[in-house]
Amino acid sequence: MKIQNYINGEWKEPSTGQFAPVINPATGETIAEVAMSGPNDIDEAVQAAKEAQRQWALVPAPKRAEVLYRVGMLLKERKEQLARLLTMEMGKVIEEARGEVQEGIDMAFYMAGEGRRLFGDTTPSELKDKFAMSVRVPVGVVGIITPWNFPIAIATWKSFPAIVAGNAVVWKPAPETPIMAQELARIFEEAGLPPGVFHVVHGDGPTVGNALVEHPDVKVISFTGSNEVGRMIAEKCGRLLKKVSLEMGGKNAVIVMDDADLTLAVDGIIWSAFGTSGQRCTACSRVIVHEWVKQELERRLLEAVKTLKIGNGLDETVKVGPVIHEEALQKIDRYVRIGVEEGAKLLIGGHRLREGDYARGFYYAPTIFTDVTPNMRIAREEIFGPVVSIMSVRSLDEAIAVNNSVDYGLSSAIFTRDVNRVFRAMRDLDTGIVYVNAGTTGAEIHLPFGGTKGTGNGHRDSGVAALDVFTEWRSIYVDFSGKLQRAQIDTDD
Ligand code: UN1
Repeated sequence: MKIQNYINGEWKEPSTGQFAPVINPATGETIAEVAMSGPNDIDEAVQAAKEAQRQWALVPAPKRAEVLYRVGMLLKERKEQLARLLTMEMGKVIEEARGEVQEGIDMAFYMAGEGRRLFGDTTPSELKDKFAMSVRVPVGVVGIITPWNFPIAIATWKSFPAIVAGNAVVWKPAPETPIMAQELARIFEEAGLPPGVFHVVHGDGPTVGNALVEHPDVKVISFTGSNEVGRMIAEKCGRLLKKVSLEMGGKNAVIVMDDADLTLAVDGIIWSAFGTSGQRCTACSRVIVHEWVKQELERRLLEAVKTLKIGNGLDETVKVGPVIHEEALQKIDRYVRIGVEEGAKLLIGGHRLREGDYARGFYYAPTIFTDVTPNMRIAREEIFGPVVSIMSVRSLDEAIAVNNSVDYGLSSAIFTRDVNRVFRAMRDLDTGIVYVNAGTTGAEIHLPFGGTKGTGNGHRDSGVAALDVFTEWRSIYVDFSGKLQRAQIDTDD
């Protein structure tokens, strides 16, 4: 299968004529080839998008939303087929792949509802016979750049609000996971989205991503990915005075207090540390445990990890799939060596899996370090793999301080039965998302998604907050007095 670009409603060869292999991380097999485009392809898509957006913005928002309702229905009908393709290109286990497609379905119906809201404000004026209001207006052409770990959900978080608000979208998906992009483009087409409103241009970041970021007719960039790339994009956008929304890394912690339900805490940690093989920006990579329950928690975690079946995610009994590719394996393994050198104690895992069926895919054993201290690199840097570090503390205050001591601020979680501790944690944990008696993953699409500090730059995906990224505010004053009334001056009579 050759995956082409989708430009102006047509499937097109990249101008470079080049393709790269797409590999199933569970088996090492090449399952498709993806276009590796050049700046000309971006330019072609942006020009077409600019043209189409003018008409699209004039379509009443409830009508625009009807396309999203149909997109939601098509995603729902094809959920199983999409989930299987997703597992094949990305590696996550089938149950999680279904969950990811469900996020897209939820987002479609939620954002379609915005077609009849897109609320602005109406306010009184300070002057007689004058009316004031603010309305959201689309920005024009938006560029979205997404990672391989959520190949369809993240694209829906960004493209659906952009489209319902009247923008056109040019999307550069990760080259590792182009199949979901192809499927989403097909679905948009079948749902009746006019040609030119949604484009997919495949390729690498330095060439295609960069061309999108630098294109003068792209008014907003919405990016999810690494801090390193996010920072480069933000610097470029800063120079160009371009609005940019960044959602980057995390170093998310689960706090386990001495009064926690340990069975529940273990379930929460295992799910959020080893689900998606730890390749979520919300993955739990730190456990901050009260010293009184540390030993017992470790004992139970070890027991639980031993029961996890690792393998090809298409097998319904598998709980942990492969990681995305060889480079990821090497990075994870490097961090494990660093942890050992730093003096952390390896409880379990800490190596690649190479035997039998594992040999051809990219598998890493679920890994737990303990006796980790907050200054160690494995406790501060994002590893993006199935590796979790246990640290012990003596109080809630210390737990919160350790949680907040990293450069990231995406999500955090606390297990406790004490309502006072819960409310203190809700107030003091410095992350964009806080979970109480649940793991660090599991955000729902109608709430804002994003983080503080190094995780982002103040914007949010999902929820109504997503509309802020893809719209400008226009404030409108209508004076029906028939005379010149000057604000702040003619206000006394
Ligand atoms: C991501 O890891 O980039 O809350 C997104 C969660 C998912 C989304 C994760 N709903 O883990």
